[in-house]
Amino acid sequence: MIGAPMIKVANIMTNCRICGNKIDKFMTFGRMPLANGFLTEAQFKDEYFFELAPAFCESCHTFQIVDQPAPEAMFHGEYAFFSQTSRSMAVHFEAFAKDTMARRLGPQDPFVVELGSNDGIMLRHFAKAGIRHLGIEPSANVAEAARAQGVNTRCAFFGAETAREIMAEHGQADIIQAANVMCHIPDLKSVAEGVALLLKPDGLLIFEDPYLGDVIRKTSYDQIYDEHVYVFSAMSVARIFGAHGLELVAVEPQKTHGGSMRYVVGRKGRHAVEASVAAALADEKALGLDRPETYDQFRRDCEASRDGLMAALNDLAAQGKRVVGYGATSKSTTVTQYCGITPRHVEFISDTTPTKQGKCSPGAHIPVKPYDAFASNYPDVALLFAWNHAEEIFAKEDGFRAAGGRWLVYVPEVKFIP
Ligand code: TMP
Ligand code: ZN
Repeated sequence: MIGAPMIKVANIMTNCRICGNKIDKFMTFGRMPLANGFLTEAQFKDEYFFELAPAFCESCHTFQIVDQPAPEAMFHGEYAFFSQTSRSMAVHFEAFAKDTMARRLGPQDPFVVELGSNDGIMLRHFAKAGIRHLGIEPSANVAEAARAQGVNTRCAFFGAETAREIMAEHGQADIIQAANVMCHIPDLKSVAEGVALLLKPDGLLIFEDPYLGDVIRKTSYDQIYDEHVYVFSAMSVARIFGAHGLELVAVEPQKTHGGSMRYVVGRKGRHAVEASVAAALADEKALGLDRPETYDQFRRDCEASRDGLMAALNDLAAQGKRVVGYGATSKSTTVTQYCGITPRHVEFISDTTPTKQGKCSPGAHIPVKPYDAFASNYPDVALLFAWNHAEEIFAKEDGFRAAGGRWLVYVPEVKFIP
């Protein structure tokens, strides 16, 4: 293997965050920086690393990472991730908000709470419709961006205590929404407790996150990084919220983030359980999400993906081809670090997010440059780190292909396009 050395660590034994059962990592991605830890050269010497290693709980079937940096290290005043930088995500969140308004929202002065509301990308649609709403967002700069758009936002982490404060001020919620947030929260029990307090008797929690079924099927191991402490399945979600008087009543697959699942959760016995739940549970059993062997195979699939990608990149380097990364995604940190990709393989990463530009990528220290650096001097190959936005990107990058450029992707398999 080329590149970053794997660190040798003691076999960390810890306990499942959900059920307390003993868990053990089934593989390691090695020494890993923060996925969103874009940094300047002066900051290299203080870069934070931890061991990224996933485990599967054989008792409650929750997929989780064993070690995680403190949330304060990841979601802080300078958190680099703004939802509104991606157009397709903006479209997705508008559809999510409108679907909730059309199908799930009661008529009586409804109150909608969003956990991890980011820059207000979803709640602003409720705000625009004049619906009572409140966003809960722990990153101060991101919360401020939401307020600037007229989205009511409280800067806090959500748990039972925050739930009580919200209830005292606004009453119970008809809908609690969350997108790409639940999987970030280590103390999910406290969140479930907060949800159980805050929801009206017939209220619904509707949340979506990258889906374990897709990660296993597509070997999209880059969904695993410091912020994603869990990768959920219908199996694990039913169990997690079931312990708090709540019940999974529907699931709806989503295309976002390379394959996500939307979970609809209500108070036990208050809603008819839709057929989608039994179908997903049966599908997950068939896929083996409840069996350790599945994760052994996943480890072998990750290794094969890594070896294939490095063979391609080393080959391109040997031929003197210019390779540029497309999209300095959080996910790409797991890929560059686990595979050992260096600036020798990838000249720079093109990204449209101003807060990332001029910095270097975490761990691999590949420079991040504005989109124009890519568009004004096409490389031979673009390594598609933002593979989850492939459709949108291929459509707008006709010119790159017309100029003879090739895409290199690694999910669901390593291949060149065309
Ligand atoms: P995400 O997959 O977590 O939404 O991150 C996407 C990243 O990729 C974000 O930093 C913006 C960047 N990006 C581009 O630079 N160009 C694009 O066309 C798209 C869709 C994303
Ligand atoms: Zn467990």
